[in-house]
Amino acid sequence: MSENKRAAKLEIDGKTYDLPIFSPTAGPDVVDIRKLYGTAGVFTYDPGFTSTASCDSTITFIDGDKGELLHRGYPIDQLAEKSHFLEVCYLLLYGELPSPAELEDFESRVTNHTMLHEQMVYFFRGFRRDAHPMAIMVGVVGAMSAFYHDSTDISDEWQREVASIRLIAKMPTIAAWAYKYSIGQPFVYPRNDLDYASNFLRMCFAVPAEDYEVNPILSRAMDRIFTLHADHEQNASTSTVRLASSSGANPFACIAAGIACLWGPAHGGANQACLEMLREIGTPDRIPEFIARAKDKDDPFRLMGFGHRVYKNFDPRAKVMKQSADEVLELLGVENNPTLQVAKELEKQALADDYFTDKKLFPNVDFYSGIILEAMGFPTSMFTPVFAVSRTIGWISQWKEMISDPQMKIGRPRQLYQGETLRDYVDIEKR
Ligand code: CMC
Repeated sequence: MSENKRAAKLEIDGKTYDLPIFSPTAGPDVVDIRKLYGTAGVFTYDPGFTSTASCDSTITFIDGDKGELLHRGYPIDQLAEKSHFLEVCYLLLYGELPSPAELEDFESRVTNHTMLHEQMVYFFRGFRRDAHPMAIMVGVVGAMSAFYHDSTDISDEWQREVASIRLIAKMPTIAAWAYKYSIGQPFVYPRNDLDYASNFLRMCFAVPAEDYEVNPILSRAMDRIFTLHADHEQNASTSTVRLASSSGANPFACIAAGIACLWGPAHGGANQACLEMLREIGTPDRIPEFIARAKDKDDPFRLMGFGHRVYKNFDPRAKVMKQSADEVLELLGVENNPTLQVAKELEKQALADDYFTDKKLFPNVDFYSGIILEAMGFPTSMFTPVFAVSRTIGWISQWKEMISDPQMKIGRPRQLYQGETLRDYVDIEKR
């Protein structure tokens, strides 16, 4: 981050304050307001952080107008095409693409941490059978702090590294077991001879009674889903992880906080909400009714899987995901599935409607990921857990970056107070 010679000028009641301007390596200039309260005695107001940079980072860059997403400078479409999830994990975590030896070492470290402490089985069994897998994930990941005491000291670099590897390695096992528990099937243990995506598919869909062979096209599609969701700079769940860890909380607790935030339908829960919406629409002839509802200012209904806070052009992840969806649907021979027919027609009609194009509301990554996951056989309740497995590396990389920064401060926003001013307590008999 370099400080610009220019300064922004802010005038309040006839007094002028100079605010330094920083020039990032990419993206808009940033006005530094850190000293504003100290010098001018005012706060800034930006609920939803629409104009506020909450940190500096070197991990991911998004240009929402161009529809560009770069991890450590590499475009997402090249990574989705030429790389694979664990290599992208290495890139996000350590900053550079690995050499063959570095990749082999990283893969073996991740692979050797895929099993869960056996006592965690009882923890899973404590949940109600119909618990949402995200509820189980929030609980189990938070509980890792109680099982892995040797990797909770954030001031120790080695412990931070072990916690990072453990989280990347165990998250698929946790998500798959949350699913198995919810359908009453036995837990399937990880197999270290399989790659990350194949291992996850096997832990979700294998049963002890028969052999299970992972279809390479499905495992490639799964790996792409992981890769495309790996990181997305300062989104809501990542900011939650950063805020939670700014207090010095242990990594497992912080990632559990990120999972909780991801669960909401405006964020990671959108893939589940999108599929449920497509089912509710039911048949293509009902699409105009739902489009009219989405456009109606008095109706809170929104087209799930459309729009994005940052992308005001096509979501670059959605392009790759759409291509992957076509491949998977063809392989599975489910192109005529009614939900998928509704999805295709909805996309066509919304993109031909001025309301959506004027507001730059395009299908986002979750519009297509839900379609692929449904075709693969995942129930909708597993869509957000899959997102959580993928985003774990983003959360960890951003957490690691923050913790390693000597200037790290506890996150503590200000507020625009609109409540009562000082008043005296009224005794209950006088109210
Ligand atoms: N359907 C209909 N209208 C919409 C939609 C939608 N999906 N999204 C935004 N709008 C309208 C909104 O009503 C508003 O209209 P107006 O200016 O007339 O008041 C305008 O577009 C801008 O919306 P906003 O809520 O100010 O935009 P935002 O940047 O705060 O919201 C969003 C971004 C993703 C929360 C929102 O587009 C949305 O709710 N989409 C549906 C949920 C979804 O698909 N989320 C997944 C995001 S991608 C995965 C991830 O990052 O987690």
